Amino acid sequence: MAVQWSSEKYCHSGIDSALGLKKLIPKGEKPKLILTDPPYNLGFDYGSVNDSLDIKDYHKMLLKVFDSAYEAADEDSHFFIINYPEIISRMWDDVIEPKTLTGKPRKKEYWKFHQWITWCYPNNWPPQKNRFTRASRAIIWMTKGKPKIELKKIVQPYKNPWDKRVKELMQEGKRGPAFYDWWDRIDICKNVSEDKSKEPPYSNQMPELLLKRIIHITTSPGDLVADPFAGTFSTVKSALELGRLGWGCDLNEETKIYHPKSQQMDYDSVAPSDLVQKFDIDWMKEPFDISRAGLSPDKFYKSLVANLSIYPVKQRILLLSEIIRLHNYSDEWNTNSITIEKIDIIDILRQIPHLQLDEILLQLGHEASEISNDMKINLLIDTISNATAKSSLDSNFDSQTVLDSVEGLYL
Ligand SMILES: C[S@@+](CC[C@H](N)C(=O)[O-])C[C@H]1O[C@@H](n2cnc3c(N)ncnc32)[C@H](O)[C@@H]1O
Repeated sequence: MAVQWSSEKYCHSGIDSALGLKKLIPKGEKPKLILTDPPYNLGFDYGSVNDSLDIKDYHKMLLKVFDSAYEAADEDSHFFIINYPEIISRMWDDVIEPKTLTGKPRKKEYWKFHQWITWCYPNNWPPQKNRFTRASRAIIWMTKGKPKIELKKIVQPYKNPWDKRVKELMQEGKRGPAFYDWWDRIDICKNVSEDKSKEPPYSNQMPELLLKRIIHITTSPGDLVADPFAGTFSTVKSALELGRLGWGCDLNEETKIYHPKSQQMDYDSVAPSDLVQKFDIDWMKEPFDISRAGLSPDKFYKSLVANLSIYPVKQRILLLSEIIRLHNYSDEWNTNSITIEKIDIIDILRQIPHLQLDEILLQLGHEASEISNDMKINLLIDTISNATAKSSLDSNFDSQTVLDSVEGLYL
């Protein structure tokens, strides 16, 4: 019979996790995955818990917890730690691959480093004056023994589903390649996010999508997933929703209000979908992709040009500026020399019907009906290139500036 989950047995607040891992994991159970974002030691508000320890004490505390986690874990298990890259780098020799005082590896059995993954999220807060905005975290993956890894349970969609070979793979039931070692499209929990709607809101709450991706690829339904720095118990909730047993512990007594309810444990809905490859992004919201649409860059330009006439004047000019900017930009930066060589912007602009070209030039202030078609096209490129170059010299360059200057010049 499946083990019955209850928050009394699996969730602990007001307890140091080195002790919790030793004494409070239900008898006979061993975590297959330990997934946690330890305190940052940056003075965050964790109630009565001190988040400004001396750096040596901070590393000592982490090592003690990670040692206990190793002892508590299954003989084949995973350990994921999420934190800022510089904090991880600083703790490397003390905590990730701990060394003795003389710089030699410790003798004690310990987690083995497996991979560094970077999670990139969109973020503009807090604004920075002298460094780039922080928008990434390190996810350190370590292992004990030889745990099962099912990378392909969560995949990214194929970029070229119309390709013959890819079509065959899709017919075999494959949905896409595994993720890279950098993950995007997972937002950080902002203060306005639904996950943070509880009072008091909690510092550094981890997004469910991120936690679930890790849980999916490293565990199966019924396995135990543990988080020794549980905070809002987000890892425990994510585990329960995927039919895994979730265990959490936090030194901050106030985190009790976040303990999940036993109804959140989903005992059976997950097993069938665990067998197929899943997307955890909303693939219908993915940006338009020309290779997925089966278009080469020149065909893409041509289709834009062919439809110029359906757009109102302002948009027509912006669209043309964009086509020319893209062309010039690609040339300059040589981002893709093979395809770019095939694109001849003059050829593309030759597709504009004569009458339409006259009309566009007239709108740009040139009465050009008497000159040859090639001269008209050169005139169009020169005029628009000059205007775009002018706009980009502006120190406050942004799309509105381009819009204003193109409008100001030509309309
Ligand atoms: C970054 S937060 C975790 C947030 C959590 N991942 C979430 O999604 O809400 C770190 C947590 O570690 C807890 N903590 C700090 N020292 C601890 C210790 N020695 N034992 C257990 N918990 C501790 C803090 O109270 C804080 O809740």
